[in-house]
Amino acid sequence: MLRNEQVGKTSSPESRYESEIRTFLEFCADPRKAFSGTVLPNELVFLEELVTKANAVEGPIIEIGTLFGFTTQHIANWKKTEKKLITVDDFTWNPIGFENETHRAFTNRILYFLFENANTELYGNSNTEFYHQYNGETPSMVFIDASHRYVDVSVDIKWAKGCNIPIISGHDYSKDFPGVTRAVNEAFGEENVQTVGTVWAVSNQT
Ligand SMILES: C[S@@+](CC[C@H](N)C(=O)[O-])C[C@H]1O[C@@H](n2cnc3c(N)ncnc32)[C@H](O)[C@@H]1O
Repeated sequence: MLRNEQVGKTSSPESRYESEIRTFLEFCADPRKAFSGTVLPNELVFLEELVTKANAVEGPIIEIGTLFGFTTQHIANWKKTEKKLITVDDFTWNPIGFENETHRAFTNRILYFLFENANTELYGNSNTEFYHQYNGETPSMVFIDASHRYVDVSVDIKWAKGCNIPIISGHDYSKDFPGVTRAVNEAFGEENVQTVGTVWAVSNQT
């Protein structure tokens, strides 16, 4: 997967946009890349179950790691309209190779309808900044899908546990992301983790 810093820097905005558009078209043309980084259709079924459970509990749903807002839109579609959804991203990574500001603008435009109609907010900064400033209601659910490094996922889980969030879940629990599985297993014990595909969840909501 491409990282922002691997994309060649060009001298003018025009040539940078051309380069980004070319990368985007290559991305669209390769079906293997098209779902890169996002939740897959077979995993969405489980995510829907989790959101349905969260609907029965007070408090917002938090998504850590928005990317382009594809999963955000599914969550928004399943949640009760009045329930708040906060999605958090610092735009440091995307599979297309968009520059940070392009990625930010693109995702904001994709999510415009949700901002206007579905009680959804995008917090455009890091997970740790979000945790530091958050003083709202105890969330009903968190979906952790930002950095997949062990230290970072551990920080996400520590915050979620510290807030007593009843449904703690995330993505990419697989051998491809040993940092995720290690952090999740250490925090909850492997036997307590439910998975469908690579979506994982620990829930005290029956
Ligand atoms: C795997 S993608 C998220 C995919 C998204 N949940 C989906 O299903 O479509 C990871 C996202 O996390 C963001 N990210 C990485 N590290 C972050 C951090 N420390 N704080 C906030 N966002 C971060 C990246 O910019 C990227 O957009």
